[in-house]
Amino acid sequence: ITLPVHLRRIVLTGFMGSGKSTIGRLLAQQLGWEFLDLDAHIESRTGSTVPELFAQHGEAHFRQLESSALASALGRSSTVLALGGGTPESLTNRLLLEQTPGTLTIFLDATFETLFDRCVLQGPGDPVIARPVLADPDQARARFISRQPSYRRLARLTLDTETLSPDETTAMLLLSL
Ligand code: S3P
Repeated sequence: ITLPVHLRRIVLTGFMGSGKSTIGRLLAQQLGWEFLDLDAHIESRTGSTVPELFAQHGEAHFRQLESSALASALGRSSTVLALGGGTPESLTNRLLLEQTPGTLTIFLDATFETLFDRCVLQGPGDPVIARPVLADPDQARARFISRQPSYRRLARLTLDTETLSPDETTAMLLLSL
């Protein structure tokens, strides 16, 4: 694969269950790049898990940690970065992503029903404990709807993952670079 010379990082965005981490890992492998998961980056910077951060300090605090972890993550090159599902809700985060040169953002799309099922099937453990935002399905659906414009605005490319396996989505993505 010949990559555009100015391309320094690929950022994957989309709702929970869209495959950001799975596809990010596969893509990084194919490119010989590093993979970084923003949630994991927050967890290693704070020493707490995402559910712990939500439970102990609330979502607003988590969002602050997320923004500073994003700024740090965008300093890396030759990296595939998987955002959290809520990262593009913040205007600051969107500006940071748009204004960091060499950053290609890709939106992994699917319907809410498919995404929700994937999260529930993903295991191990309780999907709601792993993802506090899923605790209230109606609220999760409302967030899914309200986030769509942010995902789309941010991304230069949208891939429909509804009926594709992670391997197929990764192959499609490589073809679109
Ligand atoms: C969230 C998504 C999660 C994680 C946190 C909040 C959200 O990331 O950042 O639980 O608001 O959609 P994933 O999309 O990687 O599950």
